[in-house]
Amino acid sequence: MTAHHEDAPSPAPNAALLPAGSHLAWRGGQLHVDDVPLASLAREHGTPLFVYSQAAILDAARGWQEALAGRDALVCYAIKANSSLALLRLMAQAGCGFDIVSGGELERALAAGAAPERIVFSGVGKTRAEMRRALEAGIGCFNVESLAEMDELSAIAGEMGCTAPISVRVNPDVDARTHPYISTGLKGNKFGISHAEARAAYQHAATLPWLRVKGIDCHIGSQITESAPYLEALERLLDLVEAIEADGTPLAHIDFGGGLGIDYAGEQPPAPAALWGELLARLDARGHGQRRIIVEPGRSIVGNAGVCLTSVLRLKEGETRNFCIVDAAMNDLPRPALYQAWHRIVPLTEMLPGTPARVWDVVGPVCESGDWIGKNRPLAVQPGDVLAVLSAGAYCMSMASRYNSRPLPAEVLVDGSSTRLIRRREAPQDAWQHELP
Ligand code: LLP
Repeated sequence: MTAHHEDAPSPAPNAALLPAGSHLAWRGGQLHVDDVPLASLAREHGTPLFVYSQAAILDAARGWQEALAGRDALVCYAIKANSSLALLRLMAQAGCGFDIVSGGELERALAAGAAPERIVFSGVGKTRAEMRRALEAGIGCFNVESLAEMDELSAIAGEMGCTAPISVRVNPDVDARTHPYISTGLKGNKFGISHAEARAAYQHAATLPWLRVKGIDCHIGSQITESAPYLEALERLLDLVEAIEADGTPLAHIDFGGGLGIDYAGEQPPAPAALWGELLARLDARGHGQRRIIVEPGRSIVGNAGVCLTSVLRLKEGETRNFCIVDAAMNDLPRPALYQAWHRIVPLTEMLPGTPARVWDVVGPVCESGDWIGKNRPLAVQPGDVLAVLSAGAYCMSMASRYNSRPLPAEVLVDGSSTRLIRRREAPQDAWQHELP
């Protein structure tokens, strides 16, 4: 996913390595998020603990809104990145819409106070019940991913006596140059309708009485760190838009994605304003500047706004590797195990240059060798120390599981110097409440 391989030695953690936009800072040698020392949160709430900066989230959301200021545009936060209700409420209050991919995410968005017409529904496997519920709620658009889905949606809308707003998700066959598991716009991916079949798909939509075509949609992947794949996808999409409109179907909006990457290990993705500066220039140059624009960012809003605090349980020196065993594991932080992802891991007390460090594999208690959080990390650690795994705001808590019957961790939201528990730590019993004897 990044230039770093899990076995590559990592640089020593220091102030320079705190990711931009994270609202993390060393003060008096202690790691703070905004005005709160993380050590005090670990003491108060225990570990593993996810901590988010409200200001970091709002800054990032504003960065997206400002990138599209002056345009007819809607920023739909992709709930899958982090679906905690308190964060969704923040996003709704900040004027964001939502990108959902399941009935569960729809209910969360509604519970968080989302305006239904600002919700777009993506995903290849929407169930009939989910389609029905989304129509009932009055969502803004279904991003339809196959002809079969179009037929089903039209039939359901017909039964309900309404019309379904749609855009067709087009697969532009562009290489986002990211991890294969999170690349979504290549021919071999399950997503969307191929570029070659898109015109026929819109002609098919025109024959279905209960569909209302609103726009076109395209998404090429996630953790994209350069603008070139976006520009390539946009050119291809605009070719299609022109052809589809020439065929007689007006397209009011373009939902254009590709998740912008974040700094996990020194990546320098363009800021939303820089990326969209380039994209809007292309849209304008080709005469599409007035079109409504929808974007679906997830990771770039919450990713660097969150950290996971984890305590060192014990140190185990082996013949070939040294293990730093911590109380967070692949069930809480699944990205390293799933994608060999590299997250910075720093102690809560600043490690000054020259501090003697040993090289550790930071691993969790889960009974799998794949349960690691970072490999080859130079750290000066003792049992009982607390470490912060950085860039943990996106695709960590939302992908967390209870594997090994480990209860889900707690979450805290920091606002300046005040803190709020937004998810209580589960007890083991919470996890079995729906199980029957
Ligand atoms: N819209 C659609 C249609 C998507 O498929 C995705 C992400 C997004 C929006 C949000 O993209 P973002 O801005 O977050 O990059 N679990 C993986 C990431 C999977 C992303 C899948 N789709 C990870 O931890 O890296």
